[in-house]
Amino acid sequence: MLRKRLFSDTTAAVSSERSPTSRSSTADQTGDVLIRLRGVVKRYQAAAGSGAPPFTALHGIDLDVQRGEFVAVIGKSGAGKTTLINMITGVDHVSEGEVWVDGQPLHRMSENQLCQWRGRRLGIIYQSFYLMPSLTLLQNVMLPMDLCGLYRNGSSEKRAMELLDMVELAEHAHKLPNAISGGQQQRVAIARALANDPPIIVADEPTGRLDSNTAEAIFQIFTRLVDEGKTILMVTHDRSIASRVSRTVRIADGRIISSTDAEA
Ligand SMILES: Nc1ncnc2c1ncn2[C@@H]1O[C@H](COP(=O)(O)OP(=O)(O)O)[C@@H](O)[C@H]1O
Ligand SMILES: [Mg+2]
Repeated sequence: MLRKRLFSDTTAAVSSERSPTSRSSTADQTGDVLIRLRGVVKRYQAAAGSGAPPFTALHGIDLDVQRGEFVAVIGKSGAGKTTLINMITGVDHVSEGEVWVDGQPLHRMSENQLCQWRGRRLGIIYQSFYLMPSLTLLQNVMLPMDLCGLYRNGSSEKRAMELLDMVELAEHAHKLPNAISGGQQQRVAIARALANDPPIIVADEPTGRLDSNTAEAIFQIFTRLVDEGKTILMVTHDRSIASRVSRTVRIADGRIISSTDAEA
């Protein structure tokens, strides 16, 4: 399904623009581990005035994801999978512990730093595609590039078209999201997540709203991306998919209860 290789060396792409710390100063911390969690605890405060104690959604998570791994996170509803994803994207803050992603100490970064870093170094894909309804597919894919300014002088449009071509949607580039199917929308969301050529892709049940054939097509795109050097952490309910990644991490009640490598 992927026709072109659009990914240069993902480690070097924006190394000169890294913030707030350079790779060299953090290399000792993470080595070739792209995602490292240590003792991550997440507590949610109860509603104000309820008098209820905080709810602990993650109880001290330790997790390492190496460059090039394709990791599936599985577990029942309410197990803490989305909470874990939100710690890794920096969309929400840890209560205790450390989160290192791509050499960056997310637990120490300001909202502003997180925002800038995330836009360049992380591709995020959700179950609900979250495309901008009033923008064409092409404009949706251009948006992260234009926000970050990595591809200037018209090159964002060219790259967006190449990414849409890669997910076989170039001919629909000028349509609005509501004119295409759910599976196609998710392919646009993948193209958008790849816009700034991030080394890491994090996906929260990306096939949760798709039929099994469409889910399979999305999974195959992810497999190709891993083959081309991306590192992917994906929450999924789909057992047939989970059994085909390089490692499966199982979560229950806010704890990792197993981590199983695929059989060679
Ligand atoms: N913002 C929040 N406030 C309070 N509790 C929350 C919040 N978000 C999630 N939770 C609780 O944390 C637990 C884990 O939720 P979540 O990470 O969404 O699970 P999963 O994605 O595995 O279904 C659940 O019990 C959920 O009710
Ligand atoms: Mg969830």
